[in-house]
Amino acid sequence: MRTRYGPPDVIRLAEVAKPAAGEHEVLVKVRATTVNRTDCGFLSGRPFFVRLVSGIRRPKATVLGCEFSGVVEAVGSGVTSFAVGDQVFGFSEWRFGGQAEYLTIAEDGPIAAMPASVSFEAAACSTEGSHYALSMITKARIEGGQRVLVNGATGAIGSAAVQLLKRLDVVVTAVCSTEHVEMVRDLGADRVIDYTAEDFTQDAQIVDVVLDAVGKSSFGRSKRVLRPRGTFLSSDLGPLSQNPPLALITPLFGGKRVMFPIPPNHGREEMGYLKEMIESGAFRPVIDRRYPLDRIVEAYEYVEMGQKIGNVVITVP
Ligand SMILES: NC(=O)c1ccc[n+]([C@@H]2O[C@H](COP(=O)([O-])OP(=O)(O)OC[C@H]3O[C@@H](n4cnc5c(N)ncnc54)[C@H](OP(=O)(O)O)[C@@H]3O)[C@@H](O)[C@H]2O)c1
Repeated sequence: MRTRYGPPDVIRLAEVAKPAAGEHEVLVKVRATTVNRTDCGFLSGRPFFVRLVSGIRRPKATVLGCEFSGVVEAVGSGVTSFAVGDQVFGFSEWRFGGQAEYLTIAEDGPIAAMPASVSFEAAACSTEGSHYALSMITKARIEGGQRVLVNGATGAIGSAAVQLLKRLDVVVTAVCSTEHVEMVRDLGADRVIDYTAEDFTQDAQIVDVVLDAVGKSSFGRSKRVLRPRGTFLSSDLGPLSQNPPLALITPLFGGKRVMFPIPPNHGREEMGYLKEMIESGAFRPVIDRRYPLDRIVEAYEYVEMGQKIGNVVITVP
């Protein structure tokens, strides 16, 4: 837990009160959770606007962890969709609480029965990167047959984006470093550009959308490979925090434009879609490292380096 914003070492292991399920809530015994870039943003309270929801001076959520999987230990008197013993996974948006032995979540929130034949670890890391990827794909109205270039195809968002796009029959060019070319090809990418050998902004292929999943490129650099009226779509503010203002200005000119979508709240419907994607084999979350809960500070330090491959899982004893 932590009681203030700061670097990973503000987190300490502590005994906290076991939460109780409210009338329409379930109490989950957490088996696995993750440390992701959303947790890192809420840990540091940066960019500052996250504090508008997380608490201006002190964080409201003392236990972070938005992704979780586990077993239902108790249900409130009004709960009808889950029972004690059910294996579940979900996304505790805004309230967090996954990086602990127990969490409570509303039964009509982003929680679903765990997909068949998937481990707690895989289920736990299926909801954050995929949520942001799906929200970008939906907001930009990307559809089958279009060409999309995913920059940062190895991150949590990028690796989910490649798979979700392929499910829609989009033609995907993925950009990553040499070491991960085969992995990204296995995710389904039609073409892979190794950014250590080739600059994607000089590529001969013109695309409908550049989806910058790691905020390492820019609209200015990507324009050359975008078709007229094409979209530069980013999950990140950009190197100079330029993406939000460009998203407001560029649509006014009717040409190539920037989109910086604000993700909607994660919901039950989306959990159903992800569950079906996992069960059909269309989405396999990529797992990089695993840490036990008592080494969570190390996990944050690693994730903050911005070089994780897919997801970092925390196993909860
Ligand atoms: N909008 C939102 O609400 C929201 C929510 C969560 C996260 N985010 C932002 O979204 C971004 C991505 O998050 P994430 O969790 O997916 O990231 P991540 O998992 O931390 O991404 C790490 C990956 O980026 C790749 N990478 C590093 N430098 C690169 C470069 N110059 N070009 C291309 N790829 C590079 C690395 O692979 P290689 O070794 O193959 O390069 C690494 O696998 C972050 O900037 C985060 O702050 C936004």
